[in-house]
Amino acid sequence: MRLLVTGGAGYIGSVVAAQLVEEGHDVTVLDDLSTGHADAVPEGARFVRGSITDAGGLLAEGFDAVLHFAAKSLVGESVERPGEYWACNLGGTLALLEAMRAAGVPRIVFSSTAAVYGEPERVPIEETDPTRPASPYGASKLAVDTALTAFAGLYGLAAVSLRYFNVAGAYGRFCERHAVETHLIPNVLKVALGERESVSLFGTDYPTEDGTCVRDYLHVADLARAHLLALRACTPGTHRIYNLGNGTGFSVKEVIDVCREVTGRPIPVVVGPRRPGDPAVLVASAEKIKRELGWKPERPGLHEIVADAWEAMLRLRGA
Ligand code: UFG
Repeated sequence: MRLLVTGGAGYIGSVVAAQLVEEGHDVTVLDDLSTGHADAVPEGARFVRGSITDAGGLLAEGFDAVLHFAAKSLVGESVERPGEYWACNLGGTLALLEAMRAAGVPRIVFSSTAAVYGEPERVPIEETDPTRPASPYGASKLAVDTALTAFAGLYGLAAVSLRYFNVAGAYGRFCERHAVETHLIPNVLKVALGERESVSLFGTDYPTEDGTCVRDYLHVADLARAHLLALRACTPGTHRIYNLGNGTGFSVKEVIDVCREVTGRPIPVVVGPRRPGDPAVLVASAEKIKRELGWKPERPGLHEIVADAWEAMLRLRGA
């Protein structure tokens, strides 16, 4: 297929673009490099630097589908600067959808998030559970999910939203390298590398077994494969929504211990207050995508997720 990958110079977008190229697709990456890196665009993909708000000319070249990753994705930042999140995540995506419609592009696979659920009433979370986002980030992604349902019903768009839980790990040389890193695993590994003195542990008074937050960590390679399945499953006039996670929770303390085991290095921890907006436990039920699309994680172990992230970080630093 001829595919446009927006945000394909970012962490998850670059892994999906790499897998699409490996599968023999004709891949164009559209990225404004606001947070991505040009050298993360995989070999074999064409790179166009530009914004999703101005993709009409490019889409008019003719594409079979768009895989849409380009977004602002930091929960905390979204609380401080909501306007930017609504403009980019909702405004940008609506502009992209209109441009797709004008160009006759029939399919979209959209990066949605567990943040649409907010503080869950129960775990594991199913797709039919209430959506009560606790941040403008989650709210802006949920608004896009709503728009996709409308576009599917009105215009026959074939749409799939994938609601990611905590994505981690690396795929070959493709790994997380944000200028401002907020995510747990890369931050802990930076301490092991000696790039940070200690890791801050945000809160030890949560109602969990060891008092720290519990999350569902999914290998980026497993997440990426779900996009290839979603692309095949796209049906005109239908908007499908799937959670993506392993279905197993690990506490922040457990993650830090696994990082110590994998790296064999000391990782000092400084306990701090809770980070605003963090739910105590987020664990996915991914039964729907397993049942309907036959998706199955191949690297579900936290050990292998951390080991792959660690190897890619060492490789990037020439170590
Ligand atoms: N944490 C720390 N110290 C750090 C970083 C994180 O203790 O230096 C804790 C957080 O408080 C949280 C857990 O580690 O309890 C995981 O935090 P991340 O920032 O790695 O991930 P989040 O769960 O906050 O967010 C991720 C994605 C969001 C998505 C969300 C949905 O980054 O985009 O999962 O589950 F919306």
